Amino acid sequence: MSDTGHLYMPKLAVIDRVVEETWDTKTFRAVFADEPLREHFAYHPGQFQEVSVFGVGEATFCLTSSPTRAGFIEFSAKKVGAVTNALHDLAPGETVGIRGPYGNWFPHEEIRGKNLLFVGGGIGMAPLRSLLNFCLDRRADYGHIDIFYGARTPGDLCYTYEFDEWRQAPDTSLYLTVDRGDERWTGRVGVVPTYVREIGPSPEGAVAITCGPPVMIKFTLPELTKLGFTDEQIITTLEMRMKCGVGKCGRCNIGHTYVCLDGPVFTYAQLRQLPPEF
Ligand SMILES: Cc1cc2nc3c(=O)[nH]c(=O)nc-3n(C[C@H](O)[C@H](O)[C@H](O)COP(=O)(O)OP(=O)(O)OC[C@H]3O[C@@H](n4cnc5c(N)ncnc54)[C@H](O)[C@@H]3O)c2cc1C
Ligand code: FES
Repeated sequence: MSDTGHLYMPKLAVIDRVVEETWDTKTFRAVFADEPLREHFAYHPGQFQEVSVFGVGEATFCLTSSPTRAGFIEFSAKKVGAVTNALHDLAPGETVGIRGPYGNWFPHEEIRGKNLLFVGGGIGMAPLRSLLNFCLDRRADYGHIDIFYGARTPGDLCYTYEFDEWRQAPDTSLYLTVDRGDERWTGRVGVVPTYVREIGPSPEGAVAITCGPPVMIKFTLPELTKLGFTDEQIITTLEMRMKCGVGKCGRCNIGHTYVCLDGPVFTYAQLRQLPPEF
């Protein structure tokens, strides 16, 4: 088989746990069928993979698990089309194909010693969770951690079962908010950017890592700038449409930048350099 053939050959992985996060999002824990691969699969927070549902197709998902927790990988899928619908029908014990990991990653080495500000919205928390749990597992390597996480309603918040762990981690604050509460929600109601403005985290020795719906990003960036974060201090991850994930198909490019190879993680300063089509 040619090299390109190998490139597209997925590794088999068995779904061993499915968590229903919200009405439209599930998190899948998968273990590679190959035992050495299961134990030594190496990846970094922020990378993505291509997941095949056999007979249906392949789609791109970031790894939401942290490489500090070995033996399995996790990804969260929002039900939007053919592959994600088929994934949602899978039960533990069924097999998927995995290609990856691909792309660059959150610069977890470069940001050692810094205060971290996570700003996530909805399913945008998926890639942030990988970095967050990575940093919490190496808590001494990082400064204060602020986590802002919002969703449309309480029922749209993912990873609720980890909130206590995040809240109780040393020198870590969790700020949750929803656009619309319900009869059981006693927390804050309001959008994420406003919450960030009110709490006003300091940009001193800090980086902001953000991922969420475009509207959240659009209003969060000016708030971070007003707080004094420079474009270099703001990191985000893109979800441009992808097909191959390995720089062959030309589906993900913005000008000369291939999001699958040069990204998906970019600083806001790098994004400003991209052509206006973005
Ligand atoms: C780097 C990266 C990481 C991603 N991580 C995740 C993740 O962690 N969890 C998750 O649920 N999804 C993630 N996505 C998005 C996911 O890949 C798409 O939603 C996927 O194509 C859905 O496949 P499908 O066959 O179910 O939908 P399709 O049948 O392909 O499409 C269904 C609908 O979604 C639209 N659509 C498909 N892909 C995109 C896209 N990338 N952006 C905007 N609209 C799109 C289509 O236009 C259509 O309306 C990621 C995408 C990228 C590129
Ligand atoms: S997804 Fe094919 S070139 Fe990037």
